[in-house]
Amino acid sequence: MLTLTVGRTMRLAPTVAGPPEGWHLDGLDPNPRSICVRCAEPPLMFAEPIAVAMLGAWATYQRELGRDIIIDRSLQSPIAFRSGLLSALAGRTKGGSTTSLFFRLCTEQETQDKLGSFVEAILKTTPEAERIAHYCLADLAQNVFDHARTGGQGAFCAVSLDKRTSRVRLAVADCGQGIPATIKPHYEGDLDDLDSLLLALEPELSGNSARDGVNRGVGLYFVRRLALAASGGFCAITEGLSARASARNPSDFTPKFTSLRHRWQGTAVAVTFNAIGSEYSGPMQAIKDEIEGRGPRYADIRFFRKSANAPDWHRVEIKCDRGKFALDRERAIAIAQDQVLPLLRRGVKVELDFTGVAKATQAFCHALIVPLVRGGGDDVLGRLHFVGCSARTRSPICFAVNYATAEDDI
Ligand SMILES: Nc1ncnc2c1ncn2[C@@H]1O[C@H](COP(=O)(O)OP(=O)(O)O)[C@@H](O)[C@H]1O
Ligand SMILES: [Mg+2]
Repeated sequence: MLTLTVGRTMRLAPTVAGPPEGWHLDGLDPNPRSICVRCAEPPLMFAEPIAVAMLGAWATYQRELGRDIIIDRSLQSPIAFRSGLLSALAGRTKGGSTTSLFFRLCTEQETQDKLGSFVEAILKTTPEAERIAHYCLADLAQNVFDHARTGGQGAFCAVSLDKRTSRVRLAVADCGQGIPATIKPHYEGDLDDLDSLLLALEPELSGNSARDGVNRGVGLYFVRRLALAASGGFCAITEGLSARASARNPSDFTPKFTSLRHRWQGTAVAVTFNAIGSEYSGPMQAIKDEIEGRGPRYADIRFFRKSANAPDWHRVEIKCDRGKFALDRERAIAIAQDQVLPLLRRGVKVELDFTGVAKATQAFCHALIVPLVRGGGDDVLGRLHFVGCSARTRSPICFAVNYATAEDDI
């Protein structure tokens, strides 16, 4: 028999970190008939939705492999019950309490039908938060149907509201094929798991779901941006990696990637945000505008198909650094500091030439462009032209320019 041991509190960080703080498997039997789940230091005091969703998905997966899940008495506490953890482990399709709910995904239709009332049950007193949670969960659940290759089944959705702190936490976890496996076939060259996850989190870069061509590849990106705009955080876990971003760290436009001590077979995404104390319609609209490429300042940004080849314009070639992509932030920083900024500061007019780059990532554009716009002197946008940008590169450029100029207004 195998034993799965969980700690006293099942928060995101220890859940992701694995032992000794998080949950971990002990035992040598590679093919046990049953797995016992116990708490190392009873009683269990806290279980976040990500823990409920991951353990629920994991237990379902183990059962599919023909294993029994045995819940040890040490795990039975009021919190384990109210959070839904016990029901999720026991194989129920839904459970929890008035502040913490989960349900197991079944069919796409049923998920769409149920999600609204499910989120409403927890968040009806805070309609803005309800909308955000609904949006995030709908997108994350859709990803399971679109990409995980489990037929949607076995994945768990969970959401909770901490009434004391007004913190909303939500998560979707599956034991499917994981993000790298869905991204790699779409790109030439050797993408490692880290680059695959990075691309999945970029807007319009993955886009493996062809649903009407709408909303292609922006799901995870939009969910992350939304969480940060609502003073929250985002974490995606897949295979041996996690990517995290938090509003407390404003420079976190690039998520932080960490190797996991224990591989997660599949994908799990956690989002937290504040239910009250923020005005969300502004940020939500701004993000929608950004994705749809119609932000307020885009008119100031000069895009050209080809270089003007004019003597008074200095051309800086951007080139690719990985396959057809420009995604190396360090290189972007070096181009900005060593090549472009000195020119702009001397009043020289510069063309940034992206010809041949299929896509420059948001992180790359951010690292390249924000310092130029902020430090390039008067009328910098009049002296900075963008040449040969693919549609997929234009949107992160617009966003970086918007970001750099909007901050100036504060
Ligand atoms: N649950 C999942 N399982 C496997 N791969 C996933 C999952 N969620 C997302 N992905 C991968 O990440 C990419 C980006 O997801 P997303 O931003 O929602 O865009 P889209 O779903 O429109 O492709 C997907 O195209 C897919 O390759
Ligand atoms: Mg999606």
